[in-house]
Amino acid sequence: MSQSHSHIPVTIAGTGSYVPEKVLTNADLEKLVDTSDEWITTRTGIRERRIAADDEFTSHMAVKASLKALEQAGMEASELDLIIVATITPDTLTPATACYVQKELGAMTAVAFDISAACSGFLYGMKIAKRLISDGAFKNALIIGAEKLSSFINWEDRNTCILFGDGAGAAVLRQSREGEGHIIATDIGTDGNQTHLLNIPGGGSACPITTENADQRLASLAMLGKEVFKHAVTRMRDSAKTVMARAGLKPEDIKLVVPHQANLRIIDAIADRLDVPSDRVFTNLQKYGNTSAAAVAIALDEAHREGRFTRGDKIVLVVFGAGFTWASATIEW
Ligand SMILES: CC(C)(COP(=O)(O)OP(=O)(O)OC[C@H]1O[C@@H](n2cnc3c(N)ncnc32)[C@H](O)[C@@H]1OP(=O)(O)O)[C@@H](O)C(=O)NCCC(=O)NCCS
Repeated sequence: MSQSHSHIPVTIAGTGSYVPEKVLTNADLEKLVDTSDEWITTRTGIRERRIAADDEFTSHMAVKASLKALEQAGMEASELDLIIVATITPDTLTPATACYVQKELGAMTAVAFDISAACSGFLYGMKIAKRLISDGAFKNALIIGAEKLSSFINWEDRNTCILFGDGAGAAVLRQSREGEGHIIATDIGTDGNQTHLLNIPGGGSACPITTENADQRLASLAMLGKEVFKHAVTRMRDSAKTVMARAGLKPEDIKLVVPHQANLRIIDAIADRLDVPSDRVFTNLQKYGNTSAAAVAIALDEAHREGRFTRGDKIVLVVFGAGFTWASATIEW
């Protein structure tokens, strides 16, 4: 019996990213909490991060990244029929941030919705969009990872506030044309047993913010860093190996690995376990910290625009986040 998996190959026709203007350095953080540039740099690799303006929302950053991706793809927003925003920091709990993005772009024939998969959201979105295009349901999709994490950080908690930043990245997906590359394989996974290790405990229906608990900052990211670290390395290694095997790729075939940008030590550990030398692993967390769903999307765009890979090259994307969630993709560009 023939397998009726993906029929139409799907390509990434354009990428774009945006980060806010305001830079928050490690030296700035030394004034907020008991920490040091030295500690942050050696433990995480992060030197600075971007912070959105008070009146700059997740959707605004998403739109700016999207316009660049559309321009590179040579596509008008009116040609989109699908918009997926991956975010854990939506403008509002409802409607979805994707609805604001649709309106702002004027993509009025597109179906638009959000997905919540933390740092893995952009690749969850890629898998969904790829499948919906490859089975013929949609032609042109915009996938976005966008976060204003600064609104959900306890700026008095040195365990978390040093790690995160704001930004957005986007990609336009459509059917591959003659001679173009395609998304070869994707892998996504979830482990709901680990919800307690990384979460935003308050602000949802389980724990609304009230006048009684307001001072506890429950609508802020909470994390058991050491535990998260171990799971991140194992899951990303396994997931990347899965998509490399599915694509029949050996480490030497990979032009570039573009991983989630959480911690340089996590990235080094994964590169080591994948047998890929560090000069073929892209990092920009030094400049932006961890921007959750936006991180791999921004990294993909920067690596692309810097010419780190080109038509025909094989790249691997790999991510990990709260849930836990993880995902990978192998792409022939
Ligand atoms: C958060 C993280 C950088 C901490 O690094 P670590 O090497 O595990 O450090 P520890 O948590 O063991 O803390 C070591 C010490 O530094 C202290 N410390 C924590 N944050 C600090 C800070 N910002 N500045 C100075 N000291 C700090 C701790 O209190 C602890 O002190 P103690 O030994 O006296 O208790 C690291 O665990 C990490 O990156 N984890 C993964 C996080 C992540 O990627 N999350 C998102 C996934 S999508």
